[in-house]
Amino acid sequence: MTPKNSIFIATSIDGYIADKNGGIEWLHSIENPDNDDLGYVEFTGRIDALVMGRVTFESVMGFDIPWPYDKPVYVLSRTMSAIPSTHQDHATLVNGSLSKVLSQIHANGHHRLYIDGGATIRSFLKEDLIDEMIVSTIPILLGGGAPLFSELPRALQFDLVSTKTYVNQLPQNHYERRR
Ligand SMILES: NC(=O)c1ccc[n+]([C@@H]2O[C@H](COP(=O)([O-])OP(=O)(O)OC[C@H]3O[C@@H](n4cnc5c(N)ncnc54)[C@H](OP(=O)(O)O)[C@@H]3O)[C@@H](O)[C@H]2O)c1
Repeated sequence: MTPKNSIFIATSIDGYIADKNGGIEWLHSIENPDNDDLGYVEFTGRIDALVMGRVTFESVMGFDIPWPYDKPVYVLSRTMSAIPSTHQDHATLVNGSLSKVLSQIHANGHHRLYIDGGATIRSFLKEDLIDEMIVSTIPILLGGGAPLFSELPRALQFDLVSTKTYVNQLPQNHYERRR
């Protein structure tokens, strides 16, 4: 199977994925009375595993909900020595160069990957390793926080596959890397 690295993420109008305090409560600032999943179920139905940064992993561990993923999760970290015992059934610690990490994950039969976490996505983009981006924009200006994008060694061209508007408020652009 051809490997594919995808992102599915929501940003503020000014491009942040977490606010100045690392908070993400603003993601729920639009009314969604019917609990529309905003395309998440369709997206996660076609991935084999997640690769997330340590900060996102810790933030998900801190949510007061059951573990939200039914796919294997790989956690990127240079500082963690082990996944906490409470979550060892849910996640695997990986580190090293992204090419080494990806070879290890592919060897486990996981080829279609959901890449999550700001620093993690930016490190994948720096090496031109993102093939698909589904980005929803929440109509809020945060004025600062954790950015989704940063400087790149060169421009990366994407094709727009579709644009949808959810709950009348939330534009979602689906891009595929042009190679
Ligand atoms: N808006 C959204 O939809 C959305 C989605 C996901 C997350 N978030 C939020 O965004 C924030 C994420 O924070 P973040 O930008 O700090 O990013 P992150 O990618 O979740 O975590 C960054 C950490 O991941 C590890 N890491 C990243 N790249 C690595 C690499 N190539 N090799 C080894 N380790 C690597 C490092 O951990 P070590 O420091 O341990 O080495 C790094 O400090 C959180 O507040 C989260 O809740 C928002």
